[in-house]
Amino acid sequence: MSGGFLKPRPGFATAAIHAGQEAEKWKSAAVVPPIVTSTTFKQFAPAEHSGYDYGRAGNPMRNTLEECLAALDGGIYAFAFASGLGAITSVVAMLSKGDHIVATNDLYSGTNRLFRNVVSRLGIDVTFVDISDLDDLCSSIQDSTKMIWIESPTNPLMKVIDIGKTVRIVKRRGPILIVVDNTLLTPYLQRPLEFGADIVVYSLTKYMNGHSDVIMGAAVVDEVAIAEKLRFLQNTMGIVPSPFDCYLVNRSLKTLALRMERHRATAIIIARFLERHPFVDEVMHPGLKSHKHHNIAKRQTAGHSGVFSFRHAGELEHSKKILSSLKVFTLAESTGGYESLAELPSMMTHASVPEQMRTELGITDTLIRLSVGLEDVQDLVKDLDQAIHHAFHENEAYVDHIRPSQIRPSMDQFRFSGGLSEEPNPAGSPNPPNEIQAGSAQNTQS
Ligand SMILES: Cc1ncc(COP(=O)(O)O)c(C=O)c1O
Repeated sequence: MSGGFLKPRPGFATAAIHAGQEAEKWKSAAVVPPIVTSTTFKQFAPAEHSGYDYGRAGNPMRNTLEECLAALDGGIYAFAFASGLGAITSVVAMLSKGDHIVATNDLYSGTNRLFRNVVSRLGIDVTFVDISDLDDLCSSIQDSTKMIWIESPTNPLMKVIDIGKTVRIVKRRGPILIVVDNTLLTPYLQRPLEFGADIVVYSLTKYMNGHSDVIMGAAVVDEVAIAEKLRFLQNTMGIVPSPFDCYLVNRSLKTLALRMERHRATAIIIARFLERHPFVDEVMHPGLKSHKHHNIAKRQTAGHSGVFSFRHAGELEHSKKILSSLKVFTLAESTGGYESLAELPSMMTHASVPEQMRTELGITDTLIRLSVGLEDVQDLVKDLDQAIHHAFHENEAYVDHIRPSQIRPSMDQFRFSGGLSEEPNPAGSPNPPNEIQAGSAQNTQS
């Protein structure tokens, strides 16, 4: 990968296809792991069995998926749960009353809601801080702090947290578990265990499954003692996925590397397009040089995925108009699927975050989050361009008021300056319009 980012892990795609999938595991020598639906397993004598006794404790298809997930993150064990929030709930259940969590403040809203409304009610205190500011992190750690909860990049503001530095600071303060929700990048682009994190959690619902047809989660670890606790909680709390769903996710992992390459390449082209759009004020994409944490992203990741946000120059009405004018992007919550989605965090995914917290964070009514899918990049750029222009040109007075000199369509300007090619055209010499090719969407970050 170009631009100073880490290289994707060698052997990643091979592990995604083969780890845990040995045909010799099955009497039939099936190349594709079979779905075992049985909820119970015959014992040879009391408490003497094949390794499986009851479906909640273990299932051959689930264990196959878990082996593969562990390999992808460089962990030793992975545990699959019925949802991403199920995984998060189980990880937090490692704590006890009186313990304290420091969590990043720009957090997936469901985790935020779980921490504020459920976890804190059970006597576990949570402090929300901007962990990308390491001073803030340090001053939030208390004697009772037992867990640091990181998302990097954060969502929807795309702040990047330096995982290695955080680990070094936190571990000096005591035996505090560091958990990273790696949903937005996947192990193809970021491997938190290699930077010293203790637990990596996923909503597999997103990129890991990638087809928007399964809800599932996972936790991956590289320490036996933590694995034993999670194995106990997985069985005891019972938040487990079905063998059918495990089959679907396991199948989807086979194309994860390919999909992430394409998401990454298409999204940075769109981010660059928006960055130069006359009606866009700010683009939050860690692959852009303008991003304030771009250098951390380069040290820590093999690039950025298809999820990023932008702030336009209008008001709530413009957001509504943009989102309802999109024809290729679908107005819907979620991320990581093959289809492109757009949403308004302030009214949709992050509506459950208290208004004051949203305002402080900057989750305004003009902040739109995209999940760039696998469609042709030129169709996605055109779609955004027409929707933004539609929203702003409806009110010419507003347009004149904001940018009198920049009302002309941005798509043409972008195309003729080589915007859909690999790198911005340094000399500014015009590239031909047929420069718009998805095939040129390779290694484009930074
Ligand atoms: C970053 C992140 N973590 C966790 C979750 C929760 O996952 P699930 O919807 O699978 O429960 C989500 C869901 O959107 C998410 O975006």
